[in-house]
Parts: sequence; C-alpha cells; structure tokens
Amino acid sequence: MSSVYRPTLSLAPALIQADFAARRARLAAQLPDHSIVILATAPTHLRNNDAEYKYRADSSFYYLTGFAEPEALLVLEKVLSEQGNAELIYTLFVRPKDKLREIWDGRRAGIEGALAEFGAQQAYPINEADERLPAMLLGKQHVYARLDNDLTSWLAHARSLRRGEGVVDTVHNLDALLAEMRLIKDDKELALMQSAADISAAAHCRAMQTVRPEMLEYQLEAELLYVFGHYGCVPSYNSIVAGGDNANILHYVENDQLLRAGDLVMIDAGAEYQHYAGDISRTFPVSGTFSNAQRAVYDIVLRANLAAIDSLVAGAHARIHHETALRVLTQGLVELGILSGDIDTLMADKAYMPFYMHGTGHWLGMDVHDVGRYTDTDGKPRTLQAGMVITVEPGLYFAHDNPQVPERYRGIGIRIEDDVVITEGAPRVLTGGVPKTMAEIEALMQQE
Ligand code: GLY
Ligand code: MN
Ligand code: MN
Repeated sequence: MSSVYRPTLSLAPALIQADFAARRARLAAQLPDHSIVILATAPTHLRNNDAEYKYRADSSFYYLTGFAEPEALLVLEKVLSEQGNAELIYTLFVRPKDKLREIWDGRRAGIEGALAEFGAQQAYPINEADERLPAMLLGKQHVYARLDNDLTSWLAHARSLRRGEGVVDTVHNLDALLAEMRLIKDDKELALMQSAADISAAAHCRAMQTVRPEMLEYQLEAELLYVFGHYGCVPSYNSIVAGGDNANILHYVENDQLLRAGDLVMIDAGAEYQHYAGDISRTFPVSGTFSNAQRAVYDIVLRANLAAIDSLVAGAHARIHHETALRVLTQGLVELGILSGDIDTLMADKAYMPFYMHGTGHWLGMDVHDVGRYTDTDGKPRTLQAGMVITVEPGLYFAHDNPQVPERYRGIGIRIEDDVVITEGAPRVLTGGVPKTMAEIEALMQQE
C-alpha cells in the first residue's frame, strides 16, 4: 500500500449568524448616531459569452453578513429611538425567490431566507434598492460606503426628496473602517485560518510525495487541486507550479512545462476555506534529493525565513520581517560569492535587488493580500499587534541568464513561505503541517 499523504484533517466549524451579528454590532459601535452603512457584494464575472466564473462574494460584505449569493446589498442604519437610545436597523436587499431562475441557476435564500436565516430585520428585492435607498438616506448625517455611481445617484435623489429632514453631510470611507476590523483576527477566525493552512499544507505534502521527473507542471498542480477539492475548497489565488528556471518568474501561472530530474520545483499555492486564505510556498527537488548548489541556496532562504518569523512579535514594526530577511539574504549572497563588501552598505545600496525583488510578506485573511494599512499616517511602518496574520516569504531568484550569478547557481529559484499569527508571545506559525528543512522534505519524498 502506498503511504502517499491521504489527508483526514479535522476542520474548524463555519461561523454562525451570531458571529456576523457581533461584527455588525462592533462596526456600529464605532459610528456616530444618525449614520448609515451601505455595502454591495461583488459582481458576477463572465468568463466567456454567457459562462460565468464561479461566484465569490465580496470579503467585507461576507464578513458582515455571512451571505454568499450575488446581487445583494447591506444597509445598516444607526438611528435614535423615540426614547433617545441608539438603535441598529439591519436591512438586506437580495434576489427574490424565483422558481424558474432557481431551476436554472440554483437556490436562493430570497426575502424569507434573508429574514429568517440571515438575521435581517428588513429585506427587499435587490431591484427595489434604487427606489428605497434615497428615502433611507434622508435624516442621516453620515454615510459609510464605497464611493460609486449608485451612491452618487441615491444621494442626488435623496436631496431632491429632502422633505425638510436634511441629507447626509459627510461621506466616510467604509473600507478603511472594515480594513482595521478585518486586520485583527479573533479566535474563531484564527481557527478557520488554521484550517485553511492545514488544507494548504496537506496539498503541498501530497505534491512532494507524488512529483516525478517528466511530469508536467499542471499534473502536479492537479495533485494540489485534489486536496483542495477534497475539503470543498478552491485555490485562494492562481497556483504557481514552477519547475527549474520558471521559479524565477515570480507569478508564473502557465504551469505547462516538463518537470526535469535534477531541477527544483517551486509551488506557491493555498486553499480558501470558509472565505479565509492559506498561502504557502515550498521548493523541493523533482527527483527527491537536493544537489549541493541547491542546498547552498536553500539554506540561505530557509535561514531568512526562520529569522524573519522570529522577528514578528507584538510591538515590533510591520517591516521588521523584511529587514530581517534582507540582512540574512544579503549575508548569504556574500557567502555565495555573488556580492562582496560591507553588509550594511550592500543593504543600503539594495544590492540584493537582482536576486530578491519583492517584499517579505503581506497581511493574510479573507483576501490573500488582505486589507489593512502597512504604515501610520506619518508613513512609518505601523506597530504589530496580536491577532494580525502576516506571510513570511523570502526567496532567492537566480535566473538562467543573470550574468552576476556563477554558472552553478543559474536556473535556481527558491521561495519559502509561511503564514504567521502575531501573538502576545512567540509568533505562531499556521503552516507547520508541511516540512521545510531539506532533511524533512527528502524524508517525506522518500516515503513510498
Ligand atoms: N501567492 C501570492 C503571494 O504569495 O503573495
Ligand atoms: Mn504565496
Ligand atoms: Mn504570499
């Protein structure tokens, strides 16, 4: 019997309506009285003619509603009751139930479902939004929304209705508020992200165990997709499966070349579980054993990855992992004889750029490149806080035609990426389910 990794992971439970209601309440608590929040979900996208891409709700819309159907709009009104208490009115505009459309396109919650299952106090057909929004805007002093044509026309219409109530004085950027909320993950979100990371890690393990020389890159990609699909997940971004020199194309997604004995393969792929993204990169030898030249480069990138992870502690600034990785990588480039000179000077001169041209990570959450500012208003990197999730993804890229690189290292491209939670103590790595030391990788690959 083959012992190729057969994942049987136990996964975090989906969020429930009370979780989404708590988020709406937390948002509302930050708003002044007489305010209104308006947020539409994402549009559908055609792939060709009348065939659509699989639908994915807008992350912020889903964050506040748990509602995953297209053509939906959330309205939250913070008003004062007659007794002067702040009151929250939650309205959903959705596709109404429609027997014929549901036979063709699938089930709809409808008005009834929006009220009964999604906790809306009011629900209307989406095609009534244009008619109802102007009246909802009347008497509000603040609107929190995305500035788009719909909002502009609803505001204009509301002004024409006026009725002596006054119309919104100030339009605020809703995305900025929601980004700060989404940036700090609570325990339930971290459990979902652990599951996304576990599924992603299982997929990488399977790829390590199934790769063979002369496979095509997309055949190896199929092994990843098998694991994602096994858990009902889709990729959280287009998977990169890059043999040999293809790894030196940072976002290589063609995945249609042969994997050759003696080359490395770099995979950057992650699963999206319950709307939360995993994002992992691993690099391993197609035929199961690293060569000496590959070992030398891999060791440097791994040291950069480990040092950068260690640097991610609450209170440090949000570029600390990049600065840490750059130092290790620059030192490594000197060790390999590719750069020479004083490390601080080389770093100040960005001498690493021909071999490492991207940042060392990004926020991770419902979006793979998640929302949230990286800098404070003064332009300096912000301070890391517990509950933030960030990727750590140093690499070295020695393109086949880079004349600064000795022959033996050319065509080697390596990236090692993990997902890390900032805590009050040591950083917590979500992606430990897939090996990253050379010895562990070779051992896993040798298991039949
Ligand atoms: N896979 C995209 C990234 O690592 O940023
Ligand atoms: Mn990645
Ligand atoms: Mn990434």
